[in-house]
Amino acid sequence: MKTPRLIQIAHDDPAAIRAELIAGLTAPTATIAPKYLYDALGSRLFAAITELPEYYLTRTEAAIFAAETGRMAEALGPVATLVDLGAGNCEKAARLFAAFQVRRYVAVDISVGFLRESLELLQQRHPALDLLGIGLDFSQTLQLPAEVGAGPRTLFYPGSSIGNFTPAEALTFLRQARGACQGGALLIGVDLIKSVAMLEAAYDDPLAVTAAFNRNLLRHLNFLAGADFAIADWRHCAFFNSAESRIEMHLEAVRETVVRWEGGERRFAGGERIHTENSYKWRADDFAALLERAGFARLRCWTDSREWFAVFAAFS
Ligand code: AVJ
Repeated sequence: MKTPRLIQIAHDDPAAIRAELIAGLTAPTATIAPKYLYDALGSRLFAAITELPEYYLTRTEAAIFAAETGRMAEALGPVATLVDLGAGNCEKAARLFAAFQVRRYVAVDISVGFLRESLELLQQRHPALDLLGIGLDFSQTLQLPAEVGAGPRTLFYPGSSIGNFTPAEALTFLRQARGACQGGALLIGVDLIKSVAMLEAAYDDPLAVTAAFNRNLLRHLNFLAGADFAIADWRHCAFFNSAESRIEMHLEAVRETVVRWEGGERRFAGGERIHTENSYKWRADDFAALLERAGFARLRCWTDSREWFAVFAAFS
């Protein structure tokens, strides 16, 4: 029986991560990159978010895939190599293996540790499939190692995580994705602009699961930067910034507070914020134009009947 192959691409050492976090905390507007929301507890809280009635994204995207897998398969042709960016438990991709005739599945996530178990379980269900797991922070650069193999690839980037990038960063990322697919294609999920009330409810739910997800970042910061954040001093704050077409998440100090770490500290006034995430929302036409600017052609777009979410296929 085949076994999954796992590769970890060198990642930042703890001292570099600490320096990056402290630079963010001491900047005029304190900012922390959203990837730090995902420690073990943060990943579980995100999974809980996807079950919330208000968080329509995951459910709507899954419905689009369920309804359109056949037409997507027809558009893509046989997919020899499927590269899953941010694979996690690999479930979204696994639902496509049969229809897409996938022979080699490459799961990419920030740490190969997240992938080992998922890929071992996957190998039991798909004994003939070639499985490769790569630990790589592709938010920095999307350079895939040679082990992925020659020939065209279909890059799979579901979930609307592209929304974490500004439009300029998204363009850079898509250009890299076009290079990385080696004559193949990109299959990508994008969340669309809708009513402000609906967008804000999805990121500020009444059960406060998203609040816990955001505030958990402070626990993670205490661990990674050796800081002493008191979680109770911070509230979750999420709103739609219409001018920028993005949901912003912040942590807001409820009173004046001083946060200390080894070698430094920062005072936050009451009401002062730490910016923790942007989640851009797109018009389908604007996202299509962005794909074309990145060099992709022959675009296909599938949406749900209410046009809440879109899945694009684009060819290099
Ligand atoms: C995983 C980046 C797609 O932006 O909707 C969910 C993360 N943040 N609730 C999103 C998230 C708050 C999510 N992405």
